[in-house]
Amino acid sequence: MTNIYNDTPADIEQAARIIRNGGLVAFPTDTVYGLGADVYNPQAVAAIFEAKGRPTFDPLISHIAEIDFLPEYACTDERVMALARHFWPGPLTFVLKRKEHNPSLDLVCSGLPHIAVRMPNHPLALKLIKTAGVPIAAPSANKFKCISPTTARHVADSLGDKVDMILDGGPCKIGVETTIVDLTTPEMVMLRAGGLSKEEIESFTGEKVVVSHGDPNKPSAPGQLLKHYAPQMPMRINIAQENVRPDEFYIGFGSVKNARLNLSPSGSLSEAAANLFAYMRLAETHTECRGIAMSPIPETGLGLAINDRIRRASYDK
Ligand code: TXA
Ligand code: MG
Repeated sequence: MTNIYNDTPADIEQAARIIRNGGLVAFPTDTVYGLGADVYNPQAVAAIFEAKGRPTFDPLISHIAEIDFLPEYACTDERVMALARHFWPGPLTFVLKRKEHNPSLDLVCSGLPHIAVRMPNHPLALKLIKTAGVPIAAPSANKFKCISPTTARHVADSLGDKVDMILDGGPCKIGVETTIVDLTTPEMVMLRAGGLSKEEIESFTGEKVVVSHGDPNKPSAPGQLLKHYAPQMPMRINIAQENVRPDEFYIGFGSVKNARLNLSPSGSLSEAAANLFAYMRLAETHTECRGIAMSPIPETGLGLAINDRIRRASYDK
């Protein structure tokens, strides 16, 4: 039995009805699949935390379908709107001041005075939000601390029985989560490296983006927990091909030999990001191996996000 549906108007209508009635719908975005609920329905939002096994001190991102709605939803200024017009829809999340005290948003924001908002670049996600008529709160549609899903099948495998409906929009094009920037202070602080590179943001604003490494014991973003995005097998990173152990599953990058899977034989970081989570999932099914070894990945552009995820996935303390 499966609760995976396609993208016909009837499927979207049904998914929107589920959202309006307080249910959970998993849906595709440009980055990873999200587990969505009506932001204004605290019970539905609570069901997200429950389904994921996620602590409620980790706030959720609100997904909206129109740039013009942003000023109604959160505090904006010209800087925020210019960034939204340039990068939305796309893999960039803003942390902004909340507009006024709306208690129904307290759980989504984990009681913080700030709210995270994004507009995903995926036609199915945008149609779903518009049809539901409310912003959709959605974390990645995986169990807490596990690898984010980039296909509907990944969602079904980890949360299948906990979600009312899964909309299948094919594999996610970007494959790593959004870049999160905090815009509540004069300088722009990157809380999480993601699908939009720091360099692209800086070349648009002409200003430096400050990288926050956060306090791993007090994460303002769960992605800041040292151990996160973990496969079910030990993983070693930055491993040159000559140092791979015979009992390891080798995930390569670029022109390496003997890789069981290669994130991008041509060395493209965007291709590597799109393959990363699916390959980690495939690797961990090879239970004849004792662990995963991962090629070095350059620390530029999307490489920041890729290295961030694999560093956390390999953390074993
Ligand atoms: O690509 C993505 O961003 C995906 C898709 C589904 O949109 N979503 C996603 O959500 O990765 P999640 O919940 O796995 O990660 C959201 C991050 C968390 O690290 C959370 O702490 C941070 O956003 N966040 C949310 N609201 C925040 C706030 N008010 N202040 C600081 N960080 C916030
Ligand atoms: Mg997540």
